Amino acid sequence: MAKKEMGSVTKTAHYLRCIGCGATLSGPEAAEDFRCRSCGSLFEVEYPAIGGQRAIGRHWIDTWRQRRASHSPLDRSGVWRFRELLPILEDERNVVTLEEGNTPLYRLPRCAEALSLPHLYAKHQGMNPTGSFKDTGMTAALSVAHERGFPWVACASTGNTSAAMAAYAARAGMRALVLLPEGKVAWGKLAQSLDYGAINCQLKTDFDGCVAVLAELVRKAPVYLLNSVNPYRLEGQKTAAMEIAEAMDWHAPDHVLVPGGNLANSSALGKGFAELHALGLIDRQPRISIIQAEGANPLFLSLAEHHGKHLAPVRADTRATAIRIGNPASWVKAVRILQSTGGWCEQVSEQEIALAKAEIGAEGIGCEPASAVTLAGLKKLVARKRIHPREKVVLVLTGHTLKDPEYTIDFHRGSLLKEEEMAAMPTPERTQMQGLARAPIVLEPSVESVMRVLDAAVRF
Ligand code: F0G
Repeated sequence: MAKKEMGSVTKTAHYLRCIGCGATLSGPEAAEDFRCRSCGSLFEVEYPAIGGQRAIGRHWIDTWRQRRASHSPLDRSGVWRFRELLPILEDERNVVTLEEGNTPLYRLPRCAEALSLPHLYAKHQGMNPTGSFKDTGMTAALSVAHERGFPWVACASTGNTSAAMAAYAARAGMRALVLLPEGKVAWGKLAQSLDYGAINCQLKTDFDGCVAVLAELVRKAPVYLLNSVNPYRLEGQKTAAMEIAEAMDWHAPDHVLVPGGNLANSSALGKGFAELHALGLIDRQPRISIIQAEGANPLFLSLAEHHGKHLAPVRADTRATAIRIGNPASWVKAVRILQSTGGWCEQVSEQEIALAKAEIGAEGIGCEPASAVTLAGLKKLVARKRIHPREKVVLVLTGHTLKDPEYTIDFHRGSLLKEEEMAAMPTPERTQMQGLARAPIVLEPSVESVMRVLDAAVRF
């Protein structure tokens, strides 16, 4: 097969720019831990050839849409169909794809009504092949690792990155090493990385401890680091912005809310919208707001106490284990995106997360606990009048509800929250929560017993 051009821009048309000191490198020159050798900051990918392509950009809109009807896996991928905006590979034959992306933008009618916010949507990134938004980043960064000939890839993870990495590595015939915090990874996620054949090390520490071990390991072993400090991950993740804009007929929403953990995805989305804006494909950039769990809120505290100039790591604890992160690697990128788009950072309690997750479930959509922080945060932003009724708002649901079935079952059985946590809830929210809980009912196998349940439900 002849070597093909990836879209209409020059191949390898990218370099890496340090967000701290501005130093630039070619991709392969980056250090193993993706930190700048001069100042220790992270990098982002830049494309010198794309800036001046405003006229071509309009023409790309048709190409991107038409590719969805193609039979080529590259075209059918919701990441690679936008490949004009991510020329990171030398040869498209190195792409490793599971036809990720192209996820739905759902309306949330009941949540919208409750908040008097008619234009409320959920971009469900949990509808990706391994059930989380990580697939969109993984196809990009793992393809780079594949092209550069690395036999091994590695990550520290709260469970979703590892599930995605293990799947894509298996597809590429590469080996995968996963470091997980022991006892703090939801079963659905651990089951995935086991099934996809990764080596799973459960370290007796938290996520931040796993990151510290891996940062040293990558300097000693020939493994390619696939945590979100790897800037190619964000290039894949930014395509959610293209999909949102496309689904809204190339109009940007007013506000996009994302959960904050290691704090990379917020900047990936921001970068996507910024690039579309620079190309003239959308007329403005949405505000990006980041929502953290109260027990894992280092960004919230940094903004409240240090204007985002300094971040003090916290000892993280939340049942939303995906975002149980106290020392987020990409916090500087997150602060930049909040400031450049005029977004806010909110924190939400365990009770607020549990209720929001049940409300999203009751819409017939569902998500994992970390994703539900977006709805909980939205309620706060609406209450503070930071979001107005006419605004178009998108919640980014990052993970599928089946990722963490234990959480959901505990919720419905009434055993998720402690008594004192329930008692601390305002009465209307507690009542709403109890109304949403649907404990499984154990019965004798008779029509009468089922009828009794049905009668009671009809009367209720
Ligand atoms: N939502 C889910 C479901 C996640 O898995 C993560 C991060 C986030 C939100 C936060 O995104 O880190 O870019 O701010 N999970 C990582 C993992 C850390 O290892 O799977 P972020």
